[in-house]
Amino acid sequence: MCGIVGVLGNHEVAPILVEALKRLEYRGYDSAGIATVDNSKLDRRRAVGKLVNLSDLLVHEPLAGKSGIGHTRWATHGAPNVTNAHPHQAGKVAVVHNGIIENFRELRSELADAGVKFVTETDTETVALLTYHHMNAGMSPVDAAKKTLSRLEGAFALAFLFDGHDDLMIAARKGSPLAIGYGTGEMFVGSDAIALSPMTDRISYLEEGDIAVITRSSVEITDVNGSLANRAIKQIQIDATRIDKAGHKHFMAKEIAEQPGVIGQALSHYMSDTGEILLPGEGVDFTQIDRITMVACGTAAYACLTAKYWFEQIARIPVEVDVASEFRYREPPIPGRTLALFVSQSGETADTLAALRYCEGKAQTILSVVNVPESSIARESDLTLPIYAGVEVGVASTKAFTCQLTVLFMLALKAAQQRGALSDEAFADHVSALRGLPSVINAALEKNGEIRDAAQKLSHAQDVLFLGRGRMFPMAHEAALKLKEISYIHAEAYASGELKHGPIALIDENMPVVVLAPYDTLFDKTVSNMQEVMARKGKVILISDSEGLAEASEGVWATIEMPRISEALGPILYAIPSQLLAYHTAVAKGTDVDQPRNLAKSVTVE
Ligand code: F6R
Repeated sequence: MCGIVGVLGNHEVAPILVEALKRLEYRGYDSAGIATVDNSKLDRRRAVGKLVNLSDLLVHEPLAGKSGIGHTRWATHGAPNVTNAHPHQAGKVAVVHNGIIENFRELRSELADAGVKFVTETDTETVALLTYHHMNAGMSPVDAAKKTLSRLEGAFALAFLFDGHDDLMIAARKGSPLAIGYGTGEMFVGSDAIALSPMTDRISYLEEGDIAVITRSSVEITDVNGSLANRAIKQIQIDATRIDKAGHKHFMAKEIAEQPGVIGQALSHYMSDTGEILLPGEGVDFTQIDRITMVACGTAAYACLTAKYWFEQIARIPVEVDVASEFRYREPPIPGRTLALFVSQSGETADTLAALRYCEGKAQTILSVVNVPESSIARESDLTLPIYAGVEVGVASTKAFTCQLTVLFMLALKAAQQRGALSDEAFADHVSALRGLPSVINAALEKNGEIRDAAQKLSHAQDVLFLGRGRMFPMAHEAALKLKEISYIHAEAYASGELKHGPIALIDENMPVVVLAPYDTLFDKTVSNMQEVMARKGKVILISDSEGLAEASEGVWATIEMPRISEALGPILYAIPSQLLAYHTAVAKGTDVDQPRNLAKSVTVE
């Protein structure tokens, strides 16, 4: 993970680097640091913890210079302390790095044999030391960096800065994204375009294996074969206003509240006025597909698990879902006529990307559902369906999840229609329910007060169980994940019918159980399982609609009332109380909602 930035500018660069790092802090916040070249002299400042600590340090120990690199860290190798913080410097070279250098032990021992001493526990220091070692042997900075890069295995985005050279920066990409920003007499590099958006909107993306030698007036890119390469410069539109909290206390609260709007946007991109589902390009011919393999991580994997119900029940296509980190190493056989479908908010998740490449190697058709259309996953897919959720800053995914679900549901409807699995009437009913989704979600958001009250109760718990049946089972998983990641309360999800096969032993008066049970065909069965919990003194928070609550709320600890919704779309609606429950519990506990401990938004390491 980690975020990197580099600037060859015309102004003092430290404040510019800090501002860019602020936009990259979602990628990690264990430490932050910058290095600059001032009057040909390389120097750096680093601080543990959030970026604000680096800003404070810079007030007391300012750093001058118009060329610089910066880093915000999610620790992989070595504890989050100042010594291990980037930029790493070896003599006349400073380096910032996102990713993992897998062969760093081998390189370290070669350097140790040559008498080189190490200061940190990181893999990145090896890159700086090796480059400096080559420079000491008489190589120019460019040749030394290129020779070092040719030895590196693993995934990385790197930026190098050199003492004595204030108009030179080297950037390289293998496995981790890196954008180059073009200014007027200035050049920038960054882990993503958002980091660079205050400086420039003219961006090109390095491809796998590219090395860029950058000065204020030129960028020379060589590709993986060492040949000169041209990477198209695109005008990127990033609405800076969307990257503030818009009056909310947290980005997560803002992003939860945005859901009616962004779901409406997703709908309008894929649905015509007459209710036709429109896919970009040539779309997908589902009559030629016998099976779908869906692969993702975390919340995106729960979106896949939910979509499995839709593809199987509505479109009658068998679906296999796997978390990306398991899928690839399982080396599953993939029969012909399989669609490989990858879901990712960032489009950069290393495990998902590796799984995609595995399927690419098996000559599969690759479809991706992403929020960042310029991302690696999107660029390596045969067809991409953007979810139009807008920039998601909160580390806990909310609006991206419901937009993923909305797009996947439309895809399942399209598949059902092509395969003749749905009558025209049933199709029209689904379309009309979809059209009503933004307003139903609005109504759910109005239950904020009720949900906050229930969260107050949950905030004292040590452990919480979530139960759901059918399509609500993946939703129970997502609700448990949200609660654990931002409130640090241990939470687990079970299929409600599975409880009696073991986990019911956990139930007592200290174990809150959240039951997701819309009044649908599975309601009675879910409620029977809920009664089994209450019979053992379990404290139940029941989330249902007016009919469900009228029938089953007697004796429960708390209720949350949702509007009615079509059975199929239930999971999208029930995402809202799940998110708000986690949010208010975290606020009650005083945790860092937008940047929970140990996490990062974009997980670009395996
Ligand atoms: C949880 C969360 C993570 C991500 C996961 C995949 O709230 O955000 O579980 O869903 O890391 O990330 P993407 O979707 O970017 O591939």
